Amino acid sequence: MSEIKKVAVIGGGTMGNGIVHVFAMNGYEVHLIETKKEFAERALNTIDKNLSRMVNKEKISENDKAATLDRIQTFLDVNEGVSDVDLVVEAVPEVFDLKKKIFEAVDESAPDHAILASNTSSISITKLAAVTGRPERFIGMHFFNPVPVMKLVEVINGLETSEEVTKTIMEISKKLNKVPVPANDFPGFVSNRVLMPMINEAIFCVHEGVAEPEHVDEVMKLGMAHPMGPLRLADFIGLDVCLDILNVLYEGFKDPKYRPAPLLVKMVDAGKLGDKTDEGFFKYD
Ligand code: 3HC
Repeated sequence: MSEIKKVAVIGGGTMGNGIVHVFAMNGYEVHLIETKKEFAERALNTIDKNLSRMVNKEKISENDKAATLDRIQTFLDVNEGVSDVDLVVEAVPEVFDLKKKIFEAVDESAPDHAILASNTSSISITKLAAVTGRPERFIGMHFFNPVPVMKLVEVINGLETSEEVTKTIMEISKKLNKVPVPANDFPGFVSNRVLMPMINEAIFCVHEGVAEPEHVDEVMKLGMAHPMGPLRLADFIGLDVCLDILNVLYEGFKDPKYRPAPLLVKMVDAGKLGDKTDEGFFKYD
């Protein structure tokens, strides 16, 4: 099994800053790679805020928080940021061409022994691995939002991922106090193949006038003990992300059961993307 000490995380958005947070809090040196100084600063501010929340709840001490922040270094250049790390976790938007460009650069500059992982929610791990010269050292490491809270890491094996790499990623996930669950590379893996059709069906319920959004959510919260209803969760994930994932499922399986609800498409077209735009199925301050 490979020894992992230093990790690069590419992208400091919702998922990326959470991933940096958990690696740094569990003792790893982390390189946070962003495209602009202000994006890196915003990610660090979010991490600072979420660590303070943990200090207030007495889950960690002020010293733990300071030590965690000390372990994070920011970079604006991918090649520089990955040059001496053991593991790279990519967490940029779900656009294949963007990820391809990044992994080509990472493959060129990361040490030969480094494992390359993607936090993609649905893009094929095998297809991403194929843009690198090391498909056997490529794997999916899928975290869940909010990353510091959610226990699951879905570990996705591409066609050529080696057993040694899978083992390393399963072990490192445990060191992050997460529970790794293995899956093979199929559209949406397990998580989004099961979750997104539920969210889509909830949207069809609204579209067809079966119930108002708050009532759809109440049914699932009170009847099925979901912490958030499917429409609140869709807003939380981002309606654009939900649509991207449904399109990957629809195109990947060529099965009409994954057809995105027209109301979802309309809301994304209107720029109502959920929490990040302050409005989706619900309104936010
Ligand atoms: N960082 C650190 N701690 C956080 C946090 C963060 N970003 N967000 C919440 N917390 C902590 C809170 O401090 C609180 O701690 P406590 O238990 O010690 O009091 C705990 O988490 C619960 O938070 P809150 O009390 O603020 O709020 P809730 O009880 O309503 O829980 C929630 C919030 C954890 C988000 C809960 O509603 C939930 O589990 N929702 C479902 C989330 C989910 O399904 N996520 C998966 C999305 S799918 C995905 O990510 C995959 C992608 O591919 C689409």
